[in-house]
Amino acid sequence: MQRHQLSRRPGAACAARRAPPPPPASLAFGRYPLVVVDQLDPSRPHAAHLLGTQLVLWRDATGSWRAHEDKCPHRLAPLSEGRIEPDGTLQCAYHGWTFDGSGACTHIPQLRGDDKAHCVACASRRACVRSFSCQELHGLLWVLPDSSEAGWKQAAAMPTPATVPPELTPSSGWAQTWTWYMRDLPLRYDTVMENVFDPSHVPFAHHGLQSKRSTEQGTQMSLKAQERDTITADYRFGPAGPTTTITFQAPNFVSYDFGPVQLLIYTTPTRPGWVRIIHGYERALLAQKNDWRAAYFMPAQADRWLDDRGGAVPTCEPGAPMPLQMTKRQVLDRYSQHTQHCKHCQQALKNVEVAAAVLAVCGTLAALWLVARGVAGLPLLAPATGLGLLAVAACGWGVAALAALRQKFFFEDYVHADKE
Ligand code: FES
Ligand SMILES: [Fe+2]
Repeated sequence: MQRHQLSRRPGAACAARRAPPPPPASLAFGRYPLVVVDQLDPSRPHAAHLLGTQLVLWRDATGSWRAHEDKCPHRLAPLSEGRIEPDGTLQCAYHGWTFDGSGACTHIPQLRGDDKAHCVACASRRACVRSFSCQELHGLLWVLPDSSEAGWKQAAAMPTPATVPPELTPSSGWAQTWTWYMRDLPLRYDTVMENVFDPSHVPFAHHGLQSKRSTEQGTQMSLKAQERDTITADYRFGPAGPTTTITFQAPNFVSYDFGPVQLLIYTTPTRPGWVRIIHGYERALLAQKNDWRAAYFMPAQADRWLDDRGGAVPTCEPGAPMPLQMTKRQVLDRYSQHTQHCKHCQQALKNVEVAAAVLAVCGTLAALWLVARGVAGLPLLAPATGLGLLAVAACGWGVAALAALRQKFFFEDYVHADKE
């Protein structure tokens, strides 16, 4: 009887508390910080992702950073593989169309000599690249993931992104004493958001870095305020610990207020496909059909915020599988894509390897011959010694050149921005 009572009561409480979460809000509002400007090379275009959209970021003739869809309107080649022309336009690597900072097409090489057709084609809306509002602020590049008219109006109406804290404005009295640090993580947006709003893992997961295990004395976390897009909570690692305030600002900003110092964290959802399932924590959750309420057991007060408020976090990959991504090296893997299927290349590869082996043997023999001359006491300053040295050097150079040639049958990098 006693056991039944004990098991029923918590169950009833959980049922009441675990009402279905409200529907997820959209992530497609507000500007997201996408890159640290200081870390970008302005002389070339850069590929980036935001909410699953492939973007090209580049600096135009006016010195402004631009964000466009990474897709040429001609035949959909990635513009991030292109180059910045001396006149500050972005040139597509495929057929050389160029675009200005507004996304308008400025030149179509294939229509040279036909001014009228060139004018008509460049003026067509179909020749424009999809353009996103992009803003450089506090050392970050902020992009609004909405290229529609409404998106541009929203950007014009809100000159400062909502997630820029007042402390970053120069007149706030706060000084930014650190540089931004950017790192791509193979994790889902909602998992990382949950992690950065969860101080109770810090004494353990960050032991020896920002904390130590003995700091955990029974974390208490209490909600201070909740508005439409903001949640503020206080926590401390035990009754005697100092209180720290955490603030979450939708869609992707968390700050830790330690008093004289604040930690600011942005979590930008980039693309579903980037995720690699190598994180044990994430893998365990996926194995349970992504049902975190069933998968997690959170009896401590420190986790109450997640149990009470979690579940309404939108994700940029609803229902999407998590494919393994190919690296550039895999994408440009010439051996698997061509050499192994081509008898001419296979024969050429064999020839190169045989020639390299022959040269290596010749070089070794020449070196041994020189050593033997020395051991035999023959004069070092003789024409024969010079010839021997020349043979060793020539063979060494030949082996190195053939090794470089052999590499071309396997992989060769190609960076348009480096080609003059
Ligand atoms: S695909 Fe870009 S110019 Fe042809
Ligand atoms: Fe952490």
